Formats: sequence, structure tokens, C-alpha cells
Amino acid sequence: MVLDGDAHRHRKEMFLSLVGAEALQRFSDLFAEHWRQAVLRWATKDSVVLLDETHRVITAAVCEWAGLPLAPEEISARAVEFAAMVAGTGAVGPRNWRGHLLRARTERWARRTIEEIRSGRREVPLGAARTVATHRDADGRLLDVKTAGVELINVLRPTVANARYVVFAAIALHEHPHWVEALRNGDESSRQRFALEVRRVFPFIPFIGGRVREPFEWRGHAFRVGDWALMDLYGTNHDPDRWQAPERFDPDRFCTDAIDAFDLISHGGGSAADGHRCPGEGITQTLLIAAADLLVRSMRYEVPPQDLRIDLAYIPARPRSGCVLCNIRPA
Ligand code: HEM
Repeated sequence: MVLDGDAHRHRKEMFLSLVGAEALQRFSDLFAEHWRQAVLRWATKDSVVLLDETHRVITAAVCEWAGLPLAPEEISARAVEFAAMVAGTGAVGPRNWRGHLLRARTERWARRTIEEIRSGRREVPLGAARTVATHRDADGRLLDVKTAGVELINVLRPTVANARYVVFAAIALHEHPHWVEALRNGDESSRQRFALEVRRVFPFIPFIGGRVREPFEWRGHAFRVGDWALMDLYGTNHDPDRWQAPERFDPDRFCTDAIDAFDLISHGGGSAADGHRCPGEGITQTLLIAAADLLVRSMRYEVPPQDLRIDLAYIPARPRSGCVLCNIRPA
């Protein structure tokens, strides 16, 4: 859905109202709680694929956070649906069809949930599900059930997509093991820097497309209204004119390098409130900070030989192996 003007601002306010500091703290706590439970399960297995497992952990956490806690036997099925939708985002062919197929199932669940909340058959605490179910559009009308269901999924699905960032954090720790100790002994600001650098260095959506709304010229190229343009998010985060040694993973660069709204643009550029920048950025940053802590403190594990290469042509990007961990012990 691409909106502009009042309708866009109004919809954006709804998303941003969900991610205030208190809500993010609660999300972080729930993520940690579900992660710690999962570690006990992982410890009974020879190995786990971290990407798949993190999809489950985040699904359980975000649904509970939204006011829709899942029964344990429901978590895997919902996680598989969200993961398939995420994988289908940038795909053509079977990966995309599977995403669509499973999306239809999730949309039925979301519509049913909206109807139950509205009719009073389901009581939900304050949170994303209630906010979306009772949200009125810029003209004061309740969203139709289908749109409200899609908006609910628009909160849950991209949050589950953050499993990729958790896996990127695990790869960063594997490739730069001195950061394990640095995070174990570090404070909140070291986790903040680590999270920012994971978001800068690793690709998620390498680029996005959009239409030009106001004509402008850039490096001799004229962009006219209506032209399609591609924004190179990954390239901008690795621009050697902006970042010193851009290929180096160095969270401490943020000790001295102050960033503005157009520097680190994996979630878009500019302001979230006034432009199209992602309203979910706080969720990603919060989750990565929690994951940085949990990966080094909640468990010990080994990373067996595997193909951790990340293909930039696969959108959203992920390591080929999904990041296998073995010999997991709770710490
Ligand atoms: C995996 C982490 C995520 C990444 C990498 C990401 C990335 C992006 C990007 C690049 C945009 C376009 C920004 C632009 O056009 O300037 C965007 C827009 C958006 N994202 Fe995210 N996002 C993520 C998570 C989330 C989450 C958790 C939510 C929901 C809470 C969310 C909801 C949205 C919405 C509603 C928009 C449209 C904003 C607008 O048009 O004003 N995203 N996201």
C-alpha cells in the first residue's frame, strides 16, 4: 500500500503509536523470555537452524506483544506462514507462490481475529491487535475487516522478518569473536553500537524502488515526475565517501561517528513521522540489542562448518545455511 498526504500520515501515526519506549521494552522482555525457553529445547538437539528457530521465537513474542498469545502447538504453524511470506517478498516463482498460499491462510486468521475483537467475543489487552481493530481511517471510518487484517499482518510479518538480523548478529559474532567478550563485559551502549553496525554491514533489502514525486537532478541525471528510481540501500550503507573502511565490521565507529537521518538507511532515509521511513526501525534496533545480549549470555554454542555466504540477489537476504548452531548449552 503506497499512500501520500493525509491518508499516509494518519496510517503512519497508527504504526508509530505502537512502538513507543514502553512498548519496545515489553517486546524486548517477551523476546528474551521466549528465547530462554527455546534455549532449553535447543539444548536437547544435536543442532538447530538459527533462522528457523528465531522465526518461532519472534512469532511467539510478537503475537503475545500484540495481545494475541499463541498456544504452544500453534507457534510453529504461524511462524512457518510468516517466514514464507517474508521469503516470498522479493521472489518470483515457487518461493513467491508458497508465500501467497500461506498468506491466504494467515489473512483468514487475521480477519477472524479482527471480527472477534470488534464483536467483543475476544478480549485483548491494549496493544497492536486492539489498536488495529479499532483504528479509524483519516475520514473517521473503521477499516473494513480485510484491510484491518492486512494491517495486523503488516505489523506481525515484518517483525518476524527480523529473524534475519538476529542471524546476521550471530554471524558477526562468529566472524569477530572478540565481540563475544566485548558484549559480555559491555554495557547498553556497546550493544547499541553492535546493533547499528549489524544493520549497516549486512544486507536485508539491498535496494527499494519508488516513483519520483518532485523533479530533481543528481550527478547530471535529471529525474522527472513519475520516473521509477531505485535506491541503493546497501550501497549507501557501504559508501566509501561516507564510511571509513566501509567493509570492516567495526561497531566502535559509532563512538565517534555521529549519524544523521540519511546515513544509515536500511530502513529508509529521513524522518519516520514525516516521510516514508520505516516505523518498525525501533523494533529492529530493540530486538538486535536483546539478541546481542542473549547470544553471548543466555547460552554457549558452536558453529559447525557450513555455507554462511549471503547472496545479495536473494531478497530479503539470508545466509545459505540459515546459520546452524550445535552443542547448545544454557548458560
Ligand atoms: C526487518 C526489518 C525491517 C526492514 C529492513 C524494513 C525496511 C523498510 C524500508 C526500506 C521501508 C521503505 C522506506 C522508504 O520508502 O523510505 C519500510 C517501510 C515500512 N515498514 Fe519496514 N522494515 C522492517 C521492519 C518493519 C516492521 C517491524 C514494521 C511494522 C511494525 C514495518 C512497517 C513498515 C511500514 C508500514 C512501512 C511503510 C512506511 C511509509 O510508507 O511511510 N517495517 N520498511
